[in-house]
Amino acid sequence: MSYVVLALAISAAVVSTEAAGGVDAPSPAPSGPLNLTEILRKGTQYNAFIRLLKDTEVTSQVASLLDSDRNADGLTVLAPTDAAFAGLRPGTLNRMDAQAQSQLVLFHILPKYYTFVSFQTTTNPVRTQASGQHGVYTVNVTSGGERQVNVSSGLMEAMLGKTLYSAYPLAVYSVDKVLLSPALFGRSDVKDGAEAPAAASKPQKQAPSSTAADDQAPANEADATAAGADTTRTRWLLASAATASAVVLSLLSC
Ligand SMILES: *[C@@H]1O[C@H](CO)[C@@H](O)[C@H](O)[C@H]1NC(C)=O
Ligand SMILES: *[C@@H]1O[C@H](CO)[C@@H](O)[C@H](O)[C@H]1NC(C)=O
Ligand SMILES: *[C@@H]1O[C@H](CO)[C@@H](O)[C@H](O)[C@H]1NC(C)=O
Repeated sequence: MSYVVLALAISAAVVSTEAAGGVDAPSPAPSGPLNLTEILRKGTQYNAFIRLLKDTEVTSQVASLLDSDRNADGLTVLAPTDAAFAGLRPGTLNRMDAQAQSQLVLFHILPKYYTFVSFQTTTNPVRTQASGQHGVYTVNVTSGGERQVNVSSGLMEAMLGKTLYSAYPLAVYSVDKVLLSPALFGRSDVKDGAEAPAAASKPQKQAPSSTAADDQAPANEADATAAGADTTRTRWLLASAATASAVVLSLLSC
């Protein structure tokens, strides 16, 4: 009987040692340099923004800002979904020259790394990477409740959706609207722009809610994956512990 107790004590020790090692193990470092396009591509619903980033060559600006040691503040990218671009008045992007398109993209990039929590306590106005003859374009950030952050361009307000990436020096958040800056768009543009999505929302009534559901999904999947990995590891540990105690028991019974 005491042999059995001893064997169980040994296997328990094996399990707790290995489990502790697993918990304390550092999470794997991101492989290679940060790649905004890759982060957005994984998000699957940012194809229009990816194309615009590429066409305006802001992608390479972002890459060099992330590479540069001088940019100690990091970056935050507000990535409008494809649905957000679809909600723009038709032809909005095509009517803009390259310079204006590039400013539109830069308006969605903040030269500072904001966590969701730091966003809620930040002081307005918040600088963007865009600027014009009247200086740096800014946005206002407002928060309501602990999980809601809105970003206002001065013409419209977008709501922060899921976090696509957040580890210094880069945060990438989904936004449900393309932020049009007052410097690039007149009030009349937005009035027209606001009517278009309202008219278009009838046939696709389900779209916004399914988008909201999608927004939650990846985070849950990630949790599930992590939990799955833990479970697998625990099972493996239990299996090896069982083997170890079986070996001990057979040695003792010899
Ligand atoms: C980033 O990822 C995209 C898409 O996966 C790829 O085409 C591009 O070459 C990558 N850029 C860098 C600098 O690695
Ligand atoms: C954020 O915007 C949504 C609609 O776009 C609105 O319902 C909500 O009240 C706003 N929240 C805050 C804190 O401004
Ligand atoms: C930000 O808020 C200030 C003060 O309420 C206001 O004057 C300014 O127009 C706002 N700017 C934007 C971009 O919303």
